[in-house]
Amino acid sequence: MLSPVTSLLILAACSQAVAAHGPLPYRPRCAFGDPCWPSLKEWQSFNESISGRLIVSHPSAVICHQPLYNPILCKKATEEWTNSFWRTDQVGAYSAILWEDGNDQCDINTPVNEPCGPGLVAHYSVAAEDTSDIQAAIHFALRHDIYLVIKNTGHDHLGRSSGRGSLAIWTHRLKGRTWHDAFTPSGAPSCYSAVPAVTLRAGEQWLDVYRDADMHNRIVVGGSARTVGAAGGYLTGGGHSAWAHFYGLAADNLLEVTIVTPTGELKIINEHTDPDYFWAIRGGGGSTWGVITSVTYKTHPSPSHIQVGISQFNTTTDTARRTVIQQVLKSLVYITDSGYTGYGSITPNSLRLIFIQPNGTNATYDSAFASLQQLANVTGVAGGIFQLVFPSWLEYGNVFLQDPNIATNVQDASRLLTKDILLNKHDQLADLVLQYPDLTPGFNFIGKVNSAERDKTSVHDTWRNSHALMTFGIDFVDNATLAYKHERKERLVEISSRMSDIVGPDSGTYVNEANPYEPKWQTVFWGKNYVRLLKIKRRVDPANLLVCNRCVGTDVIYEP
Ligand SMILES: Cc1cc2nc3c(=O)[nH]c(=O)nc-3n(C[C@H](O)[C@H](O)[C@H](O)COP(=O)(O)OP(=O)(O)OC[C@H]3O[C@@H](n4cnc5c(N)ncnc54)[C@H](O)[C@@H]3O)c2cc1C
Ligand SMILES: *[C@@H]1O[C@H](CO)[C@@H](O)[C@H](O)[C@H]1NC(C)=O
Ligand SMILES: *[C@@H]1O[C@H](CO)[C@@H](O)[C@H](O)[C@H]1NC(C)=O
Ligand SMILES: *[C@@H]1O[C@H](CO)[C@@H](O)[C@H](O)[C@H]1NC(C)=O
Ligand SMILES: *[C@@H]1O[C@H](CO)[C@@H](O)[C@H](O)[C@H]1NC(C)=O
Ligand SMILES: *[C@@H]1O[C@H](CO)[C@@H](O)[C@H](O)[C@H]1NC(C)=O
Ligand SMILES: *[C@@H]1O[C@H](CO)[C@@H](O)[C@H](O)[C@H]1NC(C)=O
Repeated sequence: MLSPVTSLLILAACSQAVAAHGPLPYRPRCAFGDPCWPSLKEWQSFNESISGRLIVSHPSAVICHQPLYNPILCKKATEEWTNSFWRTDQVGAYSAILWEDGNDQCDINTPVNEPCGPGLVAHYSVAAEDTSDIQAAIHFALRHDIYLVIKNTGHDHLGRSSGRGSLAIWTHRLKGRTWHDAFTPSGAPSCYSAVPAVTLRAGEQWLDVYRDADMHNRIVVGGSARTVGAAGGYLTGGGHSAWAHFYGLAADNLLEVTIVTPTGELKIINEHTDPDYFWAIRGGGGSTWGVITSVTYKTHPSPSHIQVGISQFNTTTDTARRTVIQQVLKSLVYITDSGYTGYGSITPNSLRLIFIQPNGTNATYDSAFASLQQLANVTGVAGGIFQLVFPSWLEYGNVFLQDPNIATNVQDASRLLTKDILLNKHDQLADLVLQYPDLTPGFNFIGKVNSAERDKTSVHDTWRNSHALMTFGIDFVDNATLAYKHERKERLVEISSRMSDIVGPDSGTYVNEANPYEPKWQTVFWGKNYVRLLKIKRRVDPANLLVCNRCVGTDVIYEP
């Protein structure tokens, strides 16, 4: 039994219609509280087999409530609540609170005597330090048919790193970086020309990698964030980056992984050992193919500098607002073709953008932003664009890398936008922005991604031709009513379908920044690649051990 309380989890009904593409019928796995849950004695002997690394986990506000109330820890948690470094160090903490409290409402600022339920946080977590801990956890879960999840930083936008009553494998303590001047993947033919690379253990986070890379005078294609995992969900979803225009997605830079397979074997997977499996890991999503224990990425030379363009346009009328949105959407094609990536946000009275280009010059800048500069002359518009230059990625990062929206309940619906859409449907996208003033529209790391490796990755094919990822966000306070939360999530579903109407059924999105309730998620996340991904999933995970919300081959589907 999962839990009668959760309204998040709807058990997918048996249906012929979904056979080819759709999820399997829901199969209950053994969760805490079920009669099949192993006895305390069995857990104790499992704990001994993993050097005592089994911990009971709870939502991060549990120490502010009876019976586990602890005034010192509660004060600390209250102070650090939105600090992403603190948050990712907590076994039961998640970036978006809804993925830890479920609807149990374990809030930080409610009275001590208010209850704090277990929410969606795993009952037990294995704080893995060795590969053997992970293998033991997989074998134990297989033997007892336990509901198993993988948690790294807990930054996931779709709730894929938590699960009510589950056993979690927590990869956060698997730290370690090894730099290679010339790396050859295992099993490569003798003609393979070795390349500079870095091997990261599964718990590495981007800021630590960036600091180390700077000392080695190299860059690694990574996210615009400090605490996002460098070797987990970010990578397996594709991983976009300010470097993607030049070097492709993070998945494109992957040379090899070591992974504990869903049958418990430790394997090195790369293009030479198992091309299909490797292809699936490169974009097929987290918590699906096994537990990655380390990854090896290509590295690249440090830039001579990082050029940044910052822009804000304030608008005083609806007409001006529409003009700014439409012109920016159109301009994105040329700007991103010129090598800039960036992101932006739209508020009722302004549109803000930041663009980045390693080694960008005044010539690329002047040419790329000419059409934006002209916007300043439109009636009802005030604004412009100015330039900053940083000597290194790390110095850029010291100013601009942040972890936004920590400890909120932000959720997004999104679509990748191709040249055709930006040039010909910008008016319909502007309509959407203007028609949904209750949503937060934005662009997340847009860019024309280098797609040289695209055939070797399983991300949605639309990455080949996309220039921007457009998102619409919702948020709510932790103590909002269930009815209000439900209404907001339904709004995201509505936006997904409105965006599909505009971009067409063949278009897709970035799975890591997608709607957790996306209706046609298989095609929207993976397009035609889904069928091949599902075949590989059935081969490598015959017991369907690893399941999560809207993951390949899953039968666990969260509903609004
Ligand atoms: C502040 C912030 C900034 C972001 N910036 C960017 C960005 O610039 N570019 C970008 O592309 N994305 C960005 N993202 C999205 C990010 O890629 C996703 O949130 C991603 O899921 C995070 O992966 P994680 O491993 O850190 O988190 P987790 O929530 O711990 O894990 C995410 C998923 O990966 C699985 N997983 C984790 N580790 C492993 C492993 N070792 N083996 C197998 N499965 C594993 C989990 O089970 C889960 O399914 C950002 C997110 C946040 C919150
Ligand atoms: C596992 O063993 C360690 C070391 O003995 C102990 O500290 C820990 O509390 C145990 N975990 C559980 C869940 O009992
Ligand atoms: C930037 O310039 C440096 C130094 O000239 C060079 O090594 C590097 O390859 C360039 N990077 C990009 C992305 O153009
Ligand atoms: C680029 O433009 C900026 C601002 O206009 C100027 O200060 C700088 O000197 C220019 N750089 C070069 C290399 O010409
Ligand atoms: C704005 O208009 C003025 C006057 O017509 C013109 O001189 C200027 O070049 C224009 N600026 C831009 C950025 O187009
Ligand atoms: C735009 O508005 C913000 C505050 O709303 C203000 O700080 C900024 O100076 C304005 N920019 C311009 C160019 O008017
Ligand atoms: C949530 O809590 C805040 C602060 O404690 C309170 O002001 C607000 O009214 C509460 N909202 C709801 C919907 O209960």
